[in-house]
Amino acid sequence: MDLFAGCGGLTLGLFQASATRDLRLEIPLAVDFEPLATSVYSENFRFADRVESAPVEQFFDGELGASPTLVEKRTATDVGAVDVLLGGPPCQGHSNLNNHTRRVDGKNALYLRVVRAAEILNPRVVLIENVPAVLNDRHDGEGVVDRARKHLTTLGYAVKHTVVELDKLGVAQTRRRHILLAIHRDDATTPTEVFDALPQFPRRDLHWAIGDLVEADEANPLDRAPKAQAVNEERMRYLLDNDLYDLPNALRPTCHQGAHSYKSMYGRLRWDEPAQTITSGFGSIGQGRYMHPERLRALTAHEAARIQGFPDYFDFSPCPTRGALATMIGNAVPPALTAAIFETYLAETANAHDQGQTQAVASG
Ligand SMILES: C[S@@+](CC[C@H](N)C(=O)[O-])C[C@H]1O[C@@H](n2cnc3c(N)ncnc32)[C@H](O)[C@@H]1O
Repeated sequence: MDLFAGCGGLTLGLFQASATRDLRLEIPLAVDFEPLATSVYSENFRFADRVESAPVEQFFDGELGASPTLVEKRTATDVGAVDVLLGGPPCQGHSNLNNHTRRVDGKNALYLRVVRAAEILNPRVVLIENVPAVLNDRHDGEGVVDRARKHLTTLGYAVKHTVVELDKLGVAQTRRRHILLAIHRDDATTPTEVFDALPQFPRRDLHWAIGDLVEADEANPLDRAPKAQAVNEERMRYLLDNDLYDLPNALRPTCHQGAHSYKSMYGRLRWDEPAQTITSGFGSIGQGRYMHPERLRALTAHEAARIQGFPDYFDFSPCPTRGALATMIGNAVPPALTAAIFETYLAETANAHDQGQTQAVASG
């Protein structure tokens, strides 16, 4: 089950991990209240039993620790047994990139909806993804992550949370994400064992991810070059002509010309380094270091999706609007994250099982 599923980055990684073990993934329910995101999700996971464009609260509406509500009883009956619960609640409420709404946003409570879903469904594994700044968030005076950890512990889970660096998992991007992993105590492995055994990939640079996509293609919405304002086009021309990667202060907007911490804004990407974190602003150089290394443009949606680690077969065509596409891609979790975590989980579980068998034979 995937809550706050977006276009399905977390699900895709789990699908890939399952495939490496010849396991068939079943999706009893995926929920996101953004219809364009769920239409992309449905297109790519056609075998999903149910994909709903609705608020998660419409499926899980009870307080932590309370008896299941009527709605929750119905959800539990409809979905049946769930092995893995994935949740990527919105992070705008506490992203460091969003100084205005940080730490006062009611969205923080949505993090605990995933914990409530675990309480109702009792899955073997729960994974909640968020930005590292979630550790600063409070809900009713207590840190949301602490509250989630304590509650899942009382429900019988071993719980561990950590910040994962995506460039170490083969993603060509310096993205960091906070992951809370809870595994039922009667399972053969623990979250600590899983985190400790995560694979280390060689560092991948931007050229590895998008080196073959240099020519934009106006005929295909995914490959269309983003339009730049004239002033930004001049800025890009200056960077290319002078072979620079950071825009000099004098060419920035006046409000950025003093001492500032926006070095990467209006910046040009380097082929031989991972990209900075892809946000929904990847189509504008005013939103971050998103200028193409050798073209007079910011990134296309196809390039941004590639940098996030989406394979080319992933179909974004049900989303016709540029803005919604940018939000969906920028919001997505690189599939490499759940691919690595669940490949490791499945390997650790299989090892523990083999060892159990050996011991049983030895003692029998
Ligand atoms: C960080 S994104 C999820 C990304 C997704 N896990 C992935 O891997 O592609 C958060 C999502 O939560 C959705 N959302 C926000 N509040 C919601 C709510 N109350 N109910 C359902 N979906 C919600 C947004 O539409 C957005 O797609």
